[in-house]
Amino acid sequence: MTTPADLVIHPRDERFGRNDKLARWWLAGDPVATAFYNALSVTFPKGEGFFIDSVRRFRDGAPPRLAGEIAAFTRQEVAHTREHVAFNRRVTDAGYDIRPLERRVDERLAFAASKPPIASLAATMALEHFTAILAHALLADPRHLAGAEPAAAAMWRWHAVEEIEHKGVAYDTWLHATRGWTRIARWTLKARVMLLVTRNFLVDRSLGAAELLRQDGLTGARIWARLAWFALGKPGMMRCVLGAWAAFFLPGFHPWNEDDRALLANYSEPAALTA
Ligand SMILES: [Fe+2]
Ligand SMILES: [Fe+2]
Repeated sequence: MTTPADLVIHPRDERFGRNDKLARWWLAGDPVATAFYNALSVTFPKGEGFFIDSVRRFRDGAPPRLAGEIAAFTRQEVAHTREHVAFNRRVTDAGYDIRPLERRVDERLAFAASKPPIASLAATMALEHFTAILAHALLADPRHLAGAEPAAAAMWRWHAVEEIEHKGVAYDTWLHATRGWTRIARWTLKARVMLLVTRNFLVDRSLGAAELLRQDGLTGARIWARLAWFALGKPGMMRCVLGAWAAFFLPGFHPWNEDDRALLANYSEPAALTA
């Protein structure tokens, strides 16, 4: 399977919740669930800027179809960045200091910048797979966002829809950039990078969520256990994506081996929630 020939990557220029104050615990009044998503959101503005730069560095010489997809991917990620900046401002207005989390993102990106561009593309390709499988889980099971503030839920669903739509772009760019490599050289780099970014993702998001919970006055073993249960038990986002994560290492992997466009079919533009 490769990227479906009839796939359309459709940037939707939406805005969410600009005029409303966000409740401190906007996800079902649950500090742990809120911290999980807030910690993720903090990574997006700079993280997605890094994805855009990493992919665009390899667009010269790309076949016309891939070049068009890179352009659409860029437009989607630019809008995501803008909306997560706005969302993170609402998180800050709700009383959180997100700067310790941002510093962590800066450190990771500084490390990536010290490596060759192909390593940044590999990291982007791995993280885009990660993002796409989280997006799939989010859209497949409404329990993940049950009880969320409506504009926040709409923003996360919009982002998830577009992540699924463009999930093959970084991968196809990687295939194009490494077309002269042997299969084993490709696999070795992509597997090493996936293991590294997964470890960093799990460590950084856990510490980030724990920091936000500390600002709520919630610390200690019980809170760590609640966070682990939220991620791995119920609703268990990280448990849900385990199989799809492992598929990345199989020979013949491509993000579109799983065609999950059915999840997008029910999506309607949340114009009523935009401001
Ligand atoms: Fe995005
Ligand atoms: Fe993306």
